[in-house]
Amino acid sequence: MQSIWSSPNPILFGRGASAAVGEQLLRANCKRALVVYDAGVKAAGIADRILANIRAAGIETVCFDGVQPDPPIWSVEQAGALGVSERVDCVVGVGGGSSLDTAKGAKLLITNPPPLRQYFGREGVVTKPSVPLIVIPTTAGTGSECTPGGVITDTERGIKTNIAGIGCAVTLGIVDADLTLGLPASISASTGMDALCHAAESYTSARANSFSEIAGREAIRLAARHLVRVCENGSDAEAREGMMLAATLGGIAMSGALCHLSHDIGRSLGAKFHVPHGNGCAACLPQVLERVAPVMPQKLRFFAESFGLALPPDASAEEIGRAAKDAALSLMKRINLPNMKALGLSKEELTAVVPDEVVMQCETAAKIGIVTSPLPVTRELIEEIVSRAFDEN
Ligand SMILES: [Fe+2]
Repeated sequence: MQSIWSSPNPILFGRGASAAVGEQLLRANCKRALVVYDAGVKAAGIADRILANIRAAGIETVCFDGVQPDPPIWSVEQAGALGVSERVDCVVGVGGGSSLDTAKGAKLLITNPPPLRQYFGREGVVTKPSVPLIVIPTTAGTGSECTPGGVITDTERGIKTNIAGIGCAVTLGIVDADLTLGLPASISASTGMDALCHAAESYTSARANSFSEIAGREAIRLAARHLVRVCENGSDAEAREGMMLAATLGGIAMSGALCHLSHDIGRSLGAKFHVPHGNGCAACLPQVLERVAPVMPQKLRFFAESFGLALPPDASAEEIGRAAKDAALSLMKRINLPNMKALGLSKEELTAVVPDEVVMQCETAAKIGIVTSPLPVTRELIEEIVSRAFDEN
């Protein structure tokens, strides 16, 4: 197998690193920044700290504080239009995945005219270069600082889709675990499971390669060590930094290998039923891991053992699959992650929509040569996984 390593996004990582944002913008010759964030980041006082830092460097700021969860096209187009009308020369995104994806879309639209819809698609979409973009995650989950694209919700079609290419590329990711110190346990749990899903799915992806596997393995190990700790004690700075590194490495791992079934199901739950991204992606992770174990038992053994489960050397693929499922399930219970039943939907509602949606997503991706699932994706497989997650988790 040949492996390609491509890391387009420089990362500045470390506690306190966000204090360098103004200086980094100056280095890029920026004079007027569009700063993109949401109400939660404002309420936590983080937006004001970042804004003060940028202004202290002599750079003017224009605020877009209207980021929506699972950013819809109209909201991203509003942010882009503000950037154009205010003649900004750079964009700074501060927040969780929705803020960073909105910032990526706003950057794209500064040099690529709307509508945003014409730039959708993972590959083959050509966009013009745009202004510098600094992204500053405030959750340890999305890994968006490492990925070349963003996720946008097409509300008309009820799907989540991607923007990608040079037009929305990250100039610098500033990853500062101190920004996550005040996060509530429920958000730490949901975003942390997103990071673990990135790591576990990219590690077991049909596109995994030698480099993505190294990043994915280390992200799994870090999440196993730190996710419960950050949920039990939000002020545990060492654990916060461990989870931030897990999220960043998860983002690096998935940049090449991409995610598969848990994220496909999570995207469908998010677009159709507005389930938060991390909760939706984690909802079926235990069953996905169990189902893929026969294809790659050693990788699933690594997952289970990272969480402290003991397996005999001659364990069967089925035993390994069950251990991986139990490891994920026990973690989800310890961090109080809502299960499928808590989503408030019946099993019939879920299985009437999710399997067809996932099959459609995978068929669309396969048409442009992207196959990530280690198992053939059929309606029956997804229905079985969703039904069992509903009954067992
Ligand atoms: Fe994700």
